[in-house]
Parts: sequence; structure tokens; C-alpha cells
Amino acid sequence: MQVTVYSSQPYDRRFLDAVRSANFAATDIEWRFQTAALDAGTVALAQGSDAVCVFVNDVLDAAVLEALSEIGVRGVVLRCAGFNNVDIDAAQRLGLFVARVPAYSPEAVAEHAMTLVMTLNRKTHRAYNRVREGNFALDGLLGTTLHGKTAGVVGTGRIGLAMARLLHGFGCRVLGHDPAPSPAFAQWGEAVALDELLAQADLVSLHCPLSEATHHLIDAAALTRMKPGAVLVNTSRGALVDTQAVIAALKSRHLGALAIDVYEQESELFFHDHSAEIIDDDVFARLTSFPNVLMTGHQGFFTEEALTEIAQVTCENLVCFAEGRNCANALAQRGISG
Ligand code: NAI
Repeated sequence: MQVTVYSSQPYDRRFLDAVRSANFAATDIEWRFQTAALDAGTVALAQGSDAVCVFVNDVLDAAVLEALSEIGVRGVVLRCAGFNNVDIDAAQRLGLFVARVPAYSPEAVAEHAMTLVMTLNRKTHRAYNRVREGNFALDGLLGTTLHGKTAGVVGTGRIGLAMARLLHGFGCRVLGHDPAPSPAFAQWGEAVALDELLAQADLVSLHCPLSEATHHLIDAAALTRMKPGAVLVNTSRGALVDTQAVIAALKSRHLGALAIDVYEQESELFFHDHSAEIIDDDVFARLTSFPNVLMTGHQGFFTEEALTEIAQVTCENLVCFAEGRNCANALAQRGISG
């Protein structure tokens, strides 16, 4: 089975190769690694492949899925949990198999969200540079104690639940908002309406998927409802937040700080080295100019454990696809005998 792996980085090759050799030697999965992202212009790279393996910023709209189908590709395996970039209805209509990795390591993402909160709050990124330069002055490094604060978790699924556990461990009062709250959340916090969460939380962390309903969930109106000085954390998907509205809220000093691992226009920037280039995105450039904004380039998932699990489940999904078996991780499939 030939599988074209789009948007592949050296670490994808390392983990996919290692897991295939260790656990799937009996199968005939053959990776065809491509650094290019999948979009209408790169579909042809999958010519001759049975399936494509894709990541968060690959484009799988109806036109791309139709083009893939036309050249004989029958399967799509995602190396991620979120699938907002896939037109599932179109995949179903075309009879394509689509499967994802639903829960490779919720803790990895929650721990990264917590890392962002702690770094921003205690300014360890600035302290690191100061101490290396022999500057031991504390002025400008003043933080706040997280213990005793109110934290709001929007989306109390796998990652939100892991985040709630961490926040609870830090001694925060935890509020959660989720239209389908998990019973497990009650152990760590109190389920409330979004408006109440925004009004009470000193820290708001987003962990819901991106959909039509959650697009710009945090817009100018939502930001106004947030407590003055509150911190906003987004490790989920960039378009949950209206970036222009966030910049306005930072400029007015209403929003206390922002930590993001995801950005609405990230596909133009993230996962590549642009350090020797001029970045054309003025919105991104404005964000980098705030001392109270901390950004990372979609690395929440990036741990040894998570990458091993992603490779393992991706191979399992491909075996299901090849054997025409029912797949618990499938988002679309057809002609399954069970
Ligand atoms: P999940 O499916 O376990 O949980 C998502 C929760 O959000 C569900 O309980 C759902 O009911 C809830 N939800 C849906 N609409 C909502 C709304 N309007 N308001 C509040 N809650 C809502 O998903 P999981 O595994 O926790 O992942 C969450 C998101 O994290 C993914 O969709 C993905 O976008 C993002 N993610 C980011 C990563 C990174 O590297 N930064 C890595 C993995 C996932």
C-alpha cells in the first residue's frame, strides 16, 4: 500500500518509519514522504498512491477530495485529532475512507497550555535572557500567583479535562463550559454558561474544536464580557479567536495577556523556518510586538509520547483501510462489512 505523506517533517519520517518497522513489519505500508502541503496544486504528488496521510494545515475541501478520488486515492489518514480542514460530507459522498488520531496525548496539549500560562505569568522567557546577560534585576518580572484564581476551560473534552486537572492541581477554582459536558469534569470543576465563565475567569483556556458554531467564539463582544486583566489561552485552533478583536482588546489594556499555540493564518507560517525572510503578515507582526503576548508555532502535540502514538494509530488506521475493516477512528467510510 503506497501512502503519500503530505507536510512531512523530519520528525514525521522518524516516527512513522520507526513504528512501521517495530509494529507493522508484516504489512506493506510504503511511505512516500512529501514536504509540500496538500492543496489543489499538489494533489498530483499522490498519483499512484492508495492513501494520503495529512496534517492540520493540509487542505481537504470538496475540490481536493474529488481530485484525489479521480487519481485513484481511496483513503485519507489524519496525523491529528482536529478535522476542521476536511469536508467530511464530500468524503462520504465520494466513498473515501477518512480516519484520524482522536486522542494521542491530551496531556501533551494541556501541559503545553499550562507551560504558556506559567511562562507568560512568571515571565520566565524574559528572565532566561536577563540572567544569561548578567542582569539580575527583577523589575518587569512581576507575576501573579495562580493559586486561588478562577480558571475557565472552554470545551471539557479530552484536552479540556486534562487542563482542568492541572488547573485544579495548581489550586485554581475551575469553571467549565461545554454544550455536551463530560460527567468526569464534575470532579475538577463547575459547569457554567459561557457568559458566566467569561465574566468570572482570570484565565480562559480554549479546548473546543473549530466548527461553524465556534468560529470566532472569542470575538469583540466575548472579549468585552471577559474580566479586565484576564489572560486568554488558545491551544486549539486559531479561528476560534478573532485576532483583530484580540489586538484591539490588548491595545485598550482590557485583555491582560494572550498565549497562543495556534493562529488563524498559521498555514502561511507555521512548521517552517522563515527566520531569514520578511514576514508579510502584519497582524502576526503586531502580535509579536506586545510584551504580554506569548506565541508558539503549534507545538502542543509535539512530545515523544504523542508522536509515537500518532504514528501507531495512523498505521492501525491504514491497516483497517487496507483490510476494509470497521475503524473506530473513522470519520467517513463505505462498504464496511464489520
Ligand atoms: P474532544 O472532542 O475530546 O473535546 C472537545 C470538546 O469541545 C467536546 O466535549 C465538545 O462537546 C466541546 N465543544 C464543542 N463545541 C463547543 C462549544 N461551542 N463550546 C464549548 N465546548 C464545545 O477534543 P480534544 O481531544 O479535547 O481536542 C480539542 C481540540 O484541541 C481539537 O479539536 C483540536 O482543534 C485541538 N488540538 C490542538 C493541538 C495542538 O497541538 N495545539 C493538538 C490536538 C488537538
